Amino acid sequence: TWTPAAFVETTVDSLKEQIGDGKVVLGLSGGVDSTVAAILLNKAIGKNLYCIFVNNGLLRKDEFDSVLHQYKDMGLNVKGVNASERFLNALKGESDPERKRKAIGNAFIEVFDDEAHQLTGVDWLGQGTIYPDVIESVSVNGPSVTIKSHHNVGGLPDFMKLKIVEPLRMLFKDEVRRVGKEMGIDAELLGRHPFPGPGLAIRILGDITAEKVRILQEVDAIFINGLKKWDLYDKVWQAGAILLPVNSVGVMGDERTYEKVVALRAVESTDGMTADWVNLPYEFLQEVSNHIINRVKGVNRVVYDISSKPPATIEWE
Ligand code: XMP
Repeated sequence: TWTPAAFVETTVDSLKEQIGDGKVVLGLSGGVDSTVAAILLNKAIGKNLYCIFVNNGLLRKDEFDSVLHQYKDMGLNVKGVNASERFLNALKGESDPERKRKAIGNAFIEVFDDEAHQLTGVDWLGQGTIYPDVIESVSVNGPSVTIKSHHNVGGLPDFMKLKIVEPLRMLFKDEVRRVGKEMGIDAELLGRHPFPGPGLAIRILGDITAEKVRILQEVDAIFINGLKKWDLYDKVWQAGAILLPVNSVGVMGDERTYEKVVALRAVESTDGMTADWVNLPYEFLQEVSNHIINRVKGVNRVVYDISSKPPATIEWE
């Protein structure tokens, strides 16, 4: 029978054999899969694993710093690369969802390739690919670091010519979590909601600006922290906030204001292919809505998305 302990033992042995004295470069996303893959590789080859964690400026509030610290605490050989400006520039004026995704994918590849070039003697590209990624073309795991060749025009970047090592490619998500737990990875990290690779860019409908990112980070943080405080976070499969491209009228004193509207979305699901909206308590929604409107300048209205998938998707674009 399959056990996490046996999986770790045999995988570490076979990684040692496969890689030997070789060097591996791996992109961390902050998510469960890339983290578990990195810890397995770290056990097998130690400092010959070079991890790269890119800040695309579209992560949750404070996430880059806190996750980078967590990685260092886990003993990973990780370099944090702050490329926010580069991604924002690549997204400038772009409001088509698929073109936004493409701009982000291309920027990621450029940044990763630049970083990989600074390492010498690397032979392998490590990836956190899991079984559903292997069998489906669409992954639900936010694999900003699962590089797909269709991102490219005009030839492969050099790192894509590396040999690929994917220690999780036979595992399902729950098995990945069990393997992570077996290796002592923090329960909070293992229980994190899925987060899309393009991050907040696909939750800001329309074009992206630094100011919109800041507003959405604040709103999202209030919502997610609220879910944790009310002990609802683990009952939800995925949650987040969406910044809508409309202004709505509000009133402040004698004045009318025209400010942003945000939608909150929380779903139950097993794999993201179908999903139901979560019946969150009215008292919770009331508290979160008050906090958002009182604390986030530029937002005067909060709505809750009560659509299920299908036909509504989880993300709004
Ligand atoms: P939808 O919106 O299609 O989302 O119901 C299903 C799951 O996929 C995630 N998602 C993405 N993940 N890149 C990703 O890495 C993307 O472009 C992307 N679009 C959606 C979404 O967050 C949900 O978990």
